[in-house]
Amino acid sequence: MARNVVVIGAQWGDEGKGKVVDLLTDRVGAVVRFQGGHNAGHTLVINGAKTVLHLVPSGILRTGVDCLLGNGVVVSPSALFTEIDRLTANGIDFAGRLVVSPGCPLVLSSHVALDRAREARRGDGAIGTTCRGIGPAYEDKVGRRAVRAADLMDDGALAERVRELLDFHNFMLERYYGQEPVDAARTLDELRAAATRLVPMLGDVAERLRVARAAGRNVLFEGAQGALLDIDHGTYPFVTSSNTMAAAAALGSGVGPAYIDTVLGVAKAYTTRVGGGPFPTELGAPVGEQLRSAGNEYGATTGRPRRCGWLDAVVLRRALLASSVDSLCVTKLDVLDGFETLRVAVAYRWRGERLEYPPATAEALAQCEPEYEDLPGWRSSTAGATRLADLPAAARRYLERIEALLGVPIVMVSTSAERGHTIMIRDPFA
Ligand code: GDP
Ligand code: IMO
Ligand code: MG
Repeated sequence: MARNVVVIGAQWGDEGKGKVVDLLTDRVGAVVRFQGGHNAGHTLVINGAKTVLHLVPSGILRTGVDCLLGNGVVVSPSALFTEIDRLTANGIDFAGRLVVSPGCPLVLSSHVALDRAREARRGDGAIGTTCRGIGPAYEDKVGRRAVRAADLMDDGALAERVRELLDFHNFMLERYYGQEPVDAARTLDELRAAATRLVPMLGDVAERLRVARAAGRNVLFEGAQGALLDIDHGTYPFVTSSNTMAAAAALGSGVGPAYIDTVLGVAKAYTTRVGGGPFPTELGAPVGEQLRSAGNEYGATTGRPRRCGWLDAVVLRRALLASSVDSLCVTKLDVLDGFETLRVAVAYRWRGERLEYPPATAEALAQCEPEYEDLPGWRSSTAGATRLADLPAAARRYLERIEALLGVPIVMVSTSAERGHTIMIRDPFA
């Protein structure tokens, strides 16, 4: 029986989704991205060789696997082409494997200009976006004025849409933000040039998924960002502009919810966040520094240092609830090697109350004090372990405690960035 698995980040992104998706794609016919854009940075390491993907699904290194961009993804044609060229130069074969939904809204240079202008205007209250134009592109989608991939097929309609959209963007840029306008004619020329390359990639993603299922092939839905960056359920306004929860996999690819069989949540053995916003278990120096250097916690897209802290079961509970996560993959266990004591936030204290789920506002979350449980660390190395039995007893106890706190089984444990360095307890596709 074919199975369809959604893989989502259960924290604030960068949980190691790329590694997990790449590892699991030897079992699938297709990998689908369903939300986000090139704000994502997914890192794959195979025999020491590193590949960072932004828009291209993490199945691309497996020959014969279809890589689909569903309608929920916002696509920057220039970012996509740069990525394809880089991968092609490294010998990756794209022929017929990359399909882009005509429904994908396009990210234009004016979106990037607006993203930057807004962040600058926010000053100290900046979201800390990746400045890739993602937020403004989703705004235009919901505002029913986006230029979509499908528009590249009709030059007359394209010219009209670009003129209208750039008129609006330039009004905002010049009159509201006091910035330079973006050249509309140049944008149109760029899109016409992009059309030659992008139109042949357009195809019905949902139909591909229907055929895959009918042919008995597994499908993997690759989430980007993380649960707490979800526009509805995250730490608003310090979030991204898409739904990152598992339900978005259906809407963002054109199939119904019954197409999804299971949801695998990916969580680091600790917590990181890049950009602004509340982070209750965040650690300063020296422990936070130690996690950052041991985990090499620098953004795969922007290179920014990631904020680091202890594992937060409260955050994970929100992800589990909002995404029907039924199994977990814990990554970067090796980064915790050598700590004498590890802490896990099991609840928050807020205004005299005990909370097991994050509160609804970023302001309230910023006032929450984590209630910690201390667990013994381990001295020996877990790096590269591929069997549970190879882990020190304290590491196994740490994992068992996470399972008990969350009531969800841990089915995979990642012990280094390398594809093969993974403990497979139960295959999510089995
Ligand atoms: P994603 O956005 O969720 O795909 O994650 P990123 O690729 O942005 O960040 C995860 C980082 O951790 C990457 O540099 C990975 O190569 C690395 N990584 C993934 N799993 C492990 C692991 O188990 N141990 C270590 N040390 N690094 C890992
Ligand atoms: P992957 O898929 C971590 C964060 C940004 C910022 C907020 C809004 O690699 O896990 P945006 O540019 O989306 O408007 O920024 O979201 N953010 C991420 N953080 N991993 C990501 O993707 C992220 N994509 C966006 O840092 O706080
Ligand atoms: Mg990332």
